[in-house]
Amino acid sequence: MSDVENLLAVEDLHVSFPGRGRGRRAARTDVLNGVSLAVRPGETLGLVGGSGSGKTTLGRAILGLVPARSGTITFAGERIDGATPRRRRTLSRDLQVVFQDPYTSLNPSLTIGDTLSEPLLAQGLSRAEARGRVAGLLERVHLPSDSAARLPREFSGGQRQRVAIARALAIGPRLIVCDEPVSALDLTTQQTVLELLLEIQEGTGVSYLFVSHDLAVVRFVSHRVAVIHQGVIVETGDAAEVTERPQHVYTRSLLLAAPVADVAEQRARREAFERERAAG
Ligand SMILES: Nc1ncnc2c1ncn2[C@@H]1O[C@H](COP(=O)(O)OP(=O)(O)OP(=O)(O)O)[C@@H](O)[C@H]1O
Ligand SMILES: [Mg+2]
Repeated sequence: MSDVENLLAVEDLHVSFPGRGRGRRAARTDVLNGVSLAVRPGETLGLVGGSGSGKTTLGRAILGLVPARSGTITFAGERIDGATPRRRRTLSRDLQVVFQDPYTSLNPSLTIGDTLSEPLLAQGLSRAEARGRVAGLLERVHLPSDSAARLPREFSGGQRQRVAIARALAIGPRLIVCDEPVSALDLTTQQTVLELLLEIQEGTGVSYLFVSHDLAVVRFVSHRVAVIHQGVIVETGDAAEVTERPQHVYTRSLLLAAPVADVAEQRARREAFERERAAG
């Protein structure tokens, strides 16, 4: 696949954090150890892996929030690893993020209207134009139009996550990094927020890099899935393939860790896994 077909291409990315202390005690932590993946226009790539596997670090590296030690990150044909702060600011039109925690990701002292206007005004829209766009954004994420005058604390977690999604959408990005966007929400709310993300993708053609530790969630929203383990992608493929017929032993163990409503099914799955593992 040529780079032109990819909106985002990460190749052989290494990210490390410096150790604390001096000399030999300052051993660095290698978090990403040669990650390669690609996201096509209009596609959702699910990134799944256990806690500490490097999912958030990968998202942060793409957003330029942590430096790459080596490797490349290419967005719409342009190398963006090592982009200048000035280029980063303009890149944020195309590259946005939704974080896990809707309680800390919104400024508590700004009304929803001000939060959503901020990026629009920064783009040079007039106050009146921004107001109109904010109304459209609220409608798009199914929040009542009077939400604009309210503060984050007057909303539920699920509603705040809708605001965070609206903010990410405000200036028409091409890719949104969603880092566990529904993990802090209850199951019913998770479903409605995931459906909203799908609906937005259908309407706008935006791509998602969708990070989660939950295979069921990832499967629901993704076209393709990449499985990360200890800073390495161990398996990539069609979402249904990877989640139903995982090839890598680590993906299978993730699948086992996922809760299943049916206790008997869970037991059968676990026994089959143990048998296979014993057989090597
Ligand atoms: N700023 C940092 N300095 C040092 N180490 C860090 C830093 N950020 C992350 N790490 C380490 O990098 C590893 C990967 O962290 P990361 O947050 O990317 O994992 P994750 O896959 O997002 O996990 P989770 O599912 O728990 O969110 C962890 O061992 C973490 O301690
Ligand atoms: Mg994380």
